[in-house]
Amino acid sequence: MPTILVTGSAGFIGSNFVRFVRTQRPDWRVIAFDALTYAGNLENLSDCLHDGVCRFIRGDIADGRALEPCFADGLDAVVNFAAESHVDRSILGAQEFVRTNVIGLQVLLDLARTYPVRRFLQVSTDEVYGSLGSEGFFSEETPLAPNSPYSASKAAADLLARAYHKTFDLPILVTRCSNNYGPYQFPEKLIPLFVTNLLGKQRVPLYGDGLNVRDWIHVEDHCEALLTVLEQAPPGSTYNIGGRRELPNIEIARRILQHLGHDESWIQYVKDRPGHDRRYSVDIARIERDLGWRPRIDFEKGLAQTIEWYRTNEPWWRRIKTGDYLTYYEKQYGRRDSGGRTVGGVVGADR
Ligand code: NAD
Ligand code: TYD
Repeated sequence: MPTILVTGSAGFIGSNFVRFVRTQRPDWRVIAFDALTYAGNLENLSDCLHDGVCRFIRGDIADGRALEPCFADGLDAVVNFAAESHVDRSILGAQEFVRTNVIGLQVLLDLARTYPVRRFLQVSTDEVYGSLGSEGFFSEETPLAPNSPYSASKAAADLLARAYHKTFDLPILVTRCSNNYGPYQFPEKLIPLFVTNLLGKQRVPLYGDGLNVRDWIHVEDHCEALLTVLEQAPPGSTYNIGGRRELPNIEIARRILQHLGHDESWIQYVKDRPGHDRRYSVDIARIERDLGWRPRIDFEKGLAQTIEWYRTNEPWWRRIKTGDYLTYYEKQYGRRDSGGRTVGGVVGADR
């Protein structure tokens, strides 16, 4: 029975991936590892932790001592989602981004040298390629030209992963995906922020002229692509993942406003983000051709379902907005973070 370590598993994409693997590969053992930073929420995994499918360990990927027991027990694969992921926060301070996104990856990679794994998937982003004008797209051969501290830390991680493949022959896979949307996304990112603001009768802050373009993919399509790469891609390969659905931010805002019955007076134009990338567009020809994957979820349907998910799950995002979610772990499991970032808490059944 394969055992996989999923780091960053209590965040948006990581928790969706654990849920996806649980349904698609029910015989896999999943070790869900996460530091539970502000972005990590064990509630995102609540349906997975009590059915014996996965085991949760709270710990920091930059702390080898917390991770080593997982590797020492023997792992087939590692999928690394753990990251500081919000561009605006990286502009306020880059230190945590370098610590987790770069040093954390180095610690994971060194453990994978000591305790070999069959596959190591580094989950990266299209933002490493920088910004496009109105023409063109990112292919896997596009030079890395990150513009924010967040994307620079992710690009550094991609290069480190590449170097460990070349130098130590580690079975590294790198994926670079476009902007995700879907359930359990932390309401600081564009779509969940706008939806929850409107549900809470607040206006939505649109940066600059609202014409920056992102390429949107439903998180479930991303998870399917990741599982495909994990199982089928040759070691050392890099794959772009995208939704083939480019939209300017103003159009996203309009669709959400319309769905929730509001007019454009609910948009508040605010000062632009410094260094704001103008446009992302991902060429996914390689993954389509080599692995036969393509996005399946229609954006309009996926967005409508996502908005309804936030409407139905109001207690989930209300607890985030009030900060109550930060004590969920302690309330459930009665353990305290002793001030360090790592507590060796283990919950969930071990199969
Ligand atoms: P997220 O912020 O929702 O989740 C990140 C998770 O990592 C959180 O649970 C957090 O607690 C955990 N974490 C942070 N620091 C840690 C540490 N030192 N040790 C252990 N865990 C730690 O992010 P997300 O949107 O789910 O993104 C997951 C990954 O996918 C990131 O690597 C991101 O760069 C990448 N990605 C995201 C998108 C997107 O649109 N959200 C697109 C492409 C790629
Ligand atoms: P975001 O969700 O932060 O993802 P990223 O910056 O990684 O692409 O932002 C998506 C787009 O939405 C980006 O062009 C910035 C813009 N944006 C706003 O206009 N207002 C907001 O409040 C946020 C969070 C983002």
